[in-house]
Amino acid sequence: MKKTITNLKDIENKKILVRLDLNVPIDNKKIVDNNRIIQSLPTLNYLIEKGGKIIIFSHLGRIKSESDKEKKSLKIVGEELSKLLNKNVIFVKKTRGKELENKINSLKKGDVLLVENTRFEDFINEKVTKYESSCDGELSKYWASLGDVFVNDAFGTLHRKHASNYGISINIKEKVIGFLVKKELEVLEKIKMNPERPFVVILGGAKISDKVGVIDSMLKIADKVIIGPAMSYTFRLATNHLVGKSLIDESKIEYAKNILKNNSEKIIVAFDSIAVKEINDDKNQELKSYEEIPDDYMGVDLGEKSIKLIQDSLKNARTIFWNGPLGIIENDKYSNGSKEILNSIVNLKNVFTVIGGGDSGLMTKKLGLEKRVSYISTGGGASLKFLENKEMPSLELIEDI
Ligand code: 3PG
Repeated sequence: MKKTITNLKDIENKKILVRLDLNVPIDNKKIVDNNRIIQSLPTLNYLIEKGGKIIIFSHLGRIKSESDKEKKSLKIVGEELSKLLNKNVIFVKKTRGKELENKINSLKKGDVLLVENTRFEDFINEKVTKYESSCDGELSKYWASLGDVFVNDAFGTLHRKHASNYGISINIKEKVIGFLVKKELEVLEKIKMNPERPFVVILGGAKISDKVGVIDSMLKIADKVIIGPAMSYTFRLATNHLVGKSLIDESKIEYAKNILKNNSEKIIVAFDSIAVKEINDDKNQELKSYEEIPDDYMGVDLGEKSIKLIQDSLKNARTIFWNGPLGIIENDKYSNGSKEILNSIVNLKNVFTVIGGGDSGLMTKKLGLEKRVSYISTGGGASLKFLENKEMPSLELIEDI
């Protein structure tokens, strides 16, 4: 059990540095999904109530150019946060310097200040600097010097070793986790250590390379592991099926062969898909399922038979973990498979369902089903790393109690 904010004795009038993951999807200057902001509120409200002076750090996207900075300012996130907290949030356009220091020094108890996107430190004066994401020593010390206590409540970046999480932690004496990280760890720990069985894992998304570790570790703890598109095409190719122009990862064909050979009882691979000739030609294409995909076609969604197979495999499940969409869901026409599976999951009885990952979480919300699953994790990459038993550098620095 990690030390949490409820273990802090002294909050009143203290400068509390809070790392949040406010990396929310933004389209046309509008926040598309504010779940990560909402999930950060319990920690912020607690600190406000206890009279802390709150200084928030977060990243937003990745910054590789000046134009990225225009699109990825945290300003609109600050406005949304202000609405949700029902309180003024002081936004500082800088990540260091006098203006930031003066504003911090004039905070009163219960005030909330939001620092500009920490990854603005990754690109300065037309140069790639990576001060934030390479955990620059000087920047880490500087940010730590701005406060008295550090609260890490950014679950989505626990697997990152950056200045605003790991760097602040090593340079500050008192550090704890917030309510969101605590809740995420409890849910994922339950899945990892003591899932009610049968435990079924659904893995979607495009890249096998990103998921090799998680496929291996899920095969150790789950009763069934379902591989959906787009990863399924590499597995289908490995068993000599035709996949047309579908996305495959050649470097993982041998891996797929071995996994299938050694886990034939456990692993279920989607074996048919909706395939089209032109991915962006929405007009006259018939959406048809193929087990053998013709040469000039590519798979874009789960096929009818695979939907049925997955639904049958989920029927008796008591725990379900789902990470990654099962088709190109950015295009509504190719999201039928994911929707069908989600709809059947929410109608199952006595099942503990965790949705991990931004796209699957957003889809659950879009379908209005977010209250009908047990938990939507705020961290896609982080939840996978945790389940894989990978190092979580920013978490390890927080003392156990
Ligand atoms: C996420 O969206 O998974 C987190 O905010 C981490 O973002 P990153 O992958 O850019 O570090």
